[in-house]
Amino acid sequence: MKKIGILTGGGDCPGLNAVIRAVVRKSIHYNWEIIGIKNGWKGLIQGEMELLTDYSVSGILPKGGTIIGTSRTNPFKNEEDTKKLLDNIKKFELESIIAIGGDDTLGVALRLHNMNVPIVGIPKTIDNDLSCTDYTFGFDTAVSIATEAIDRLHSTAESHHRVIVVEVMGRHTGWIATFAGIASGADEIIIPEKPYDLDDVCSNLKARCDRGKTFSIVVVSEGAKSSNHLVVKSDKKDEFGHERLGGIGNILGKEIEQKLGFETRVVVLGHILRGGTPTAYDRILATRFGVAAVELVKEQNFGKMVALKGNKIVSVNLEEAVSKSKTVDMDLYKIAEVFFDRSKQKHVEAF
Ligand code: F6P
Repeated sequence: MKKIGILTGGGDCPGLNAVIRAVVRKSIHYNWEIIGIKNGWKGLIQGEMELLTDYSVSGILPKGGTIIGTSRTNPFKNEEDTKKLLDNIKKFELESIIAIGGDDTLGVALRLHNMNVPIVGIPKTIDNDLSCTDYTFGFDTAVSIATEAIDRLHSTAESHHRVIVVEVMGRHTGWIATFAGIASGADEIIIPEKPYDLDDVCSNLKARCDRGKTFSIVVVSEGAKSSNHLVVKSDKKDEFGHERLGGIGNILGKEIEQKLGFETRVVVLGHILRGGTPTAYDRILATRFGVAAVELVKEQNFGKMVALKGNKIVSVNLEEAVSKSKTVDMDLYKIAEVFFDRSKQKHVEAF
């Protein structure tokens, strides 16, 4: 009986359990055993695994998080860990591995593929910043949660005549901010792809006020830069060299209040965007990815990642998928900008 290892690495996101269930259920058709590797690459280094059966994946489709755990462990940080990981693949007789993750986890998958480990990838991240796939699962849920939160913030902002700055996740890219901002009618959206100018933001909010609107909603990605610098919560880096982001919302909120004198509040949505049950869209995408990944293993088509292109599930080279981040489509951002108030001068320039 073929034994396939499966792991979830990096930040969790809604839909991980839906993928695991799909992989297990599809593998049963081929009479394969699926071994859940606990806590990402860490479990493969430490030899922590569990057999996943029809029974163990029963009822997990709508469940948030990941039943096999995750971590931000980098097995290439030291040679000893790499060796342990390779030894455990042999020891546990894993014929191939399905790695579910974002750019870091799939970057490791690519390195292992280059060392002849039979491996396929499944893209996941709420940030939606992986190349070669139109969407990653988890993103739609994060956008829905952010949209609902911003809808609620509208009514309190309006009652109190305040500016509310909403900080959302998005380390390198502003997909969540742009989508949730458009969906909820944000008055400004600030993203990493477009350095912001405080004077511009304030004159836009002032223009909105002059139009008789006594409140505003500003959505900002955690990865947006203040004075060309990332705002970090802590300098401590994870094993892939990333700092913990967070705090741009507070900086921006203070700046707006000081410059305009408008009462301002700041809300940081953070990990709420990653928790809880996935939307129907994410459940379906995750299920399609899981089934497609098993098919890649069946065809022995390794070094690939399943991806969504238009409405079709395709396979792409892992190498291409992790080569660069997928940044926000600026045509979409321009749609969002239509709804920002601009000084007269800017209107003339833009349209
Ligand atoms: O990679 C997804 C993500 O949610 C980013 O948007 C965010 O910067 C990061 O993970 C937070 O990671 P952690 O859960 O380790 O704090």
